[in-house]
Amino acid sequence: MPRRGFMKVFWLVLISISLIEVFSVIIAFLTSGGRKSGDDKRSAMKVLAKEEDISNDTVTAFRSDRVYLVRMEDGGLLALSLQCTHLGCAISWNKDSNEFDCPCHASSFNTKGEVIRPPAPRALDTYPLKIEGGMIKVDLSRPEKRKKFNKSQLVYA
Ligand code: FES
Repeated sequence: MPRRGFMKVFWLVLISISLIEVFSVIIAFLTSGGRKSGDDKRSAMKVLAKEEDISNDTVTAFRSDRVYLVRMEDGGLLALSLQCTHLGCAISWNKDSNEFDCPCHASSFNTKGEVIRPPAPRALDTYPLKIEGGMIKVDLSRPEKRKKFNKSQLVYA
């Protein structure tokens, strides 16, 4: 094959591959319904517990999910990240002092996740939570940063 003919075939193959790539991206976008990648995370609700199994005024650790489920005296639920907002160490629930303690630099937080003792700069992150069919579900893919506790963060059955 002469050199000019070879170059023609080479460019045709290259352009064809590029067009196939472009069309496959367009088809993938159209078949996904135009969702952004962040939308996929919204369906990541995980069942943590039966609502009836979590008593009022309790703190329950789900360490493998890195979350504490806090149920207030009035039944309000809060899903707290167990990651300290200072440098990310895992906090522990201290039943005796009724607070969360960070082993790294001694920050502590109350049951609402608010800072009692710095250096942690802000309250613990929360996760979106809902109660469906008697089950407590938490979206572990979307930690929500907050400065302090607000009663609207509580979820009720
Ligand atoms: Fe928790 Fe520093 S990482 S206090």
